Amino acid sequence: MLSQKAPIGIFDSGYGGLTILNEIRKVMPQYDYLYLGDNARSPYGSRSFEIVYKFTLQAVKKLFSFGCPLVILACNTASAKALRSIQQQDLPLMEDPTRRVLGVIRPTIEIIDQLSSTKHVGILATEGTVGSHSYPIEIGKLFPSLVVHEEACPMWVPLVENGEYNSPGADFFVRKHLEALLSKDRAIDTIVLGCTHYPLLREKIQQYLPSFVHIVAQGEYVATSLKDYLLRHRDMEQRLSKEGTTRYLSTEQESKFVEKASVFLQESILAEQIIID
Ligand code: DGL
Repeated sequence: MLSQKAPIGIFDSGYGGLTILNEIRKVMPQYDYLYLGDNARSPYGSRSFEIVYKFTLQAVKKLFSFGCPLVILACNTASAKALRSIQQQDLPLMEDPTRRVLGVIRPTIEIIDQLSSTKHVGILATEGTVGSHSYPIEIGKLFPSLVVHEEACPMWVPLVENGEYNSPGADFFVRKHLEALLSKDRAIDTIVLGCTHYPLLREKIQQYLPSFVHIVAQGEYVATSLKDYLLRHRDMEQRLSKEGTTRYLSTEQESKFVEKASVFLQESILAEQIIID
């Protein structure tokens, strides 16, 4: 087992996990973070289960090889399609089975029962996340009486990644999917943004929703849940380094990563290109 302290690994298919990283750093600025974006192979949203699982496992192993004892899958698609298999099949067989991998779906849904009065909720996510039905399955375990509807929004990630999230063109696709979701059930009063990119569309989303509908952007819930996890798992907390730094790794060229990351971050950063296989 590694005795040296090491950063928390944050993995995403690309840039979207930066929205989660931002919120985690707000709540826990003292820790070190190692962000890995698999930008060269993103988006994961419309990829098959097998491919998302394979790519995610490779990324987790890469972050482990950098010493991270704890990895957060800051990607809904990876959390939906790969987390369970990694936790249950792969981790126990690894050289150090005490390392941990956590996702973003569970922390997000833990609070929705409190937020919803009508007990009808909506999930907006990528095709992959919706196709896995991970949100309704996980919600069903915690709150079996909640009524859940899902809507895949395949155009929303490209809108954000191409910096079009504030443009008039974005309104068409935002409205289209919100109307599709609400037409399934007019009693929906809580909508989960189940994709890392969607918080950037939040203002537009708000515009097309009735005022009684709560929007759940997951970053803050993931952050508080992680804080709580570390309070409950002191052995893990002791393994984490605390210099307040963040290092960025990407499978894409450094300059490309830095340029697009600026959409998600309010600071200039350096990045390193790595190969994962
Ligand atoms: N990060 C992904 C998610 O949260 C969105 C981007 C992608 O499709 O790779 O589902």
